[in-house]
Amino acid sequence: MAMQEQAIAWRQAGEEVGLVPTMGALHAGHDSLVTRARRENQRVIVSIFVNPAQFGPNEDFARYPRPFEADRARLEALGVDAIFHPPVDQIYPPAFKTRVEAGPLGEVLEGKSRPGHFNGVLTVVLKLFLLTQPKRAYFGQKDFQQLVLVRQMVRDFALPIRIVAVPTVREPDGLAISSRNAYLAPAEREAAPAIYRALDVAAKGFGGGLADPVELEDTVRHLLEGTPGVAIDYVAVVDEITLRRPARTGPGNVLAVAVKLGTIRLIDNVVLGAERL
Ligand code: PAJ
Repeated sequence: MAMQEQAIAWRQAGEEVGLVPTMGALHAGHDSLVTRARRENQRVIVSIFVNPAQFGPNEDFARYPRPFEADRARLEALGVDAIFHPPVDQIYPPAFKTRVEAGPLGEVLEGKSRPGHFNGVLTVVLKLFLLTQPKRAYFGQKDFQQLVLVRQMVRDFALPIRIVAVPTVREPDGLAISSRNAYLAPAEREAAPAIYRALDVAAKGFGGGLADPVELEDTVRHLLEGTPGVAIDYVAVVDEITLRRPARTGPGNVLAVAVKLGTIRLIDNVVLGAERL
């Protein structure tokens, strides 16, 4: 049965669907979303689609890893009900024309170095939602701005879907798990845990009463500037809904960073004074 028909049939039978959208190359971070979805829904759909619309011309669309057989085995072990793995022309047939425009929240932070990225993300996420009819959809906190934008779209379009934020899964040394970590040269991999260490120092500072967002940002900036091989793109304390810097940092605000290690761009963040978004 086609994905949308199957999803509608489940819904009509009163079975709630949890959707985990991914681009494949699955790792422990994705597993944690799937496990959470498995706990909370009668049916779990995982989509695997490397979405061309969210990659810039100089980004890694062509060489993005696509280990489909390994992904399938991993998802079968986790007990999902369906893997939705559409070809590009099912999502974007030749006559496809309409796009979601992310608006101003898509132009800050990641959006500055990745113009159009979030339009591509929201366009595919909306289409995946309509094809899979989820009651709940699961997104990682690691891609914090993506999560904020998806929530904004859900509110703006009154989509009857609950967006569940799942905490970032990390390596034992603190590095946020990402398929891009595999591209790091050994010296870069050794430097990479400095990112989370710096975030953690600032988060503890906030816990100890440091509420000036600029001081929190400077704490991270100084620590990262002292790490060889790390080039900062941005360090920002932002409100978790508006993505603007608050006058005074409050619980739930997010401290987000993007750095480059050689040619590899990594992002990470922590929620200040709260477990989750
Ligand atoms: P992808 O990078 O494959 O990530 C799929 C989901 O896994 C995202 O919600 C992401 O935040 C989450 N994730 C990745 N690493 C994680 C980690 N270490 N801990 C917890 N969650 C983690 O994000 C995308 O794909 C795409 O933009 C997509 C939403 C599928 C749209 O194309």
